[in-house]
Amino acid sequence: MEAQAVHIPDNEEYRELKRFIEANRHVPGPLIQVLHRAQKIFGYLPLEVQHFVARELGVPLAKVFGVVTFYNFFRLDPIGDHIVNVCLGTACHVKGASEIIQALEKELGIRVGGTTGDRFYTLSTARCFGACGLAPVMMIDEEVYGRLNPQKTVRILRDMKDRAAAAETQNAKNKEEK
Ligand code: FES
Repeated sequence: MEAQAVHIPDNEEYRELKRFIEANRHVPGPLIQVLHRAQKIFGYLPLEVQHFVARELGVPLAKVFGVVTFYNFFRLDPIGDHIVNVCLGTACHVKGASEIIQALEKELGIRVGGTTGDRFYTLSTARCFGACGLAPVMMIDEEVYGRLNPQKTVRILRDMKDRAAAAETQNAKNKEEK
């Protein structure tokens, strides 16, 4: 993999990352720390960012790519404004978590791990939120929703989207009136 072939924009995000790299290039094993910071700055690690990290740290792009794809806390795709996490723990599994996933995949038009085209939702899974008595359970951002069924799940997502759209319309209206 060639680390020099991509045009890297000169903007504040990249400048911030460059400063971090300069300050940390001599710590032991800087690559993971740099990638963590890069993900914090950009939200995910597109190839362009990986090229930049490889170039600035003087390591092969293949090594950067290998690390990014090995650890599941690194993301190659952008995430949405809201993370929908469906519990796949035992209690939730027994109570029909897979039907909840199916309903969400159908409603959002994405698979687990994906993000909707409008970047509103990212669909993910987790293992036990400690709310097994409410199984099946999902979390949207920090909020827990329990005793789900497919219809209720879809309604929760639609309501959330409707509320966001209404808030946006209201904001636009407020701006116009100023
Ligand atoms: S198994 Fe789902 S919350 Fe515990």
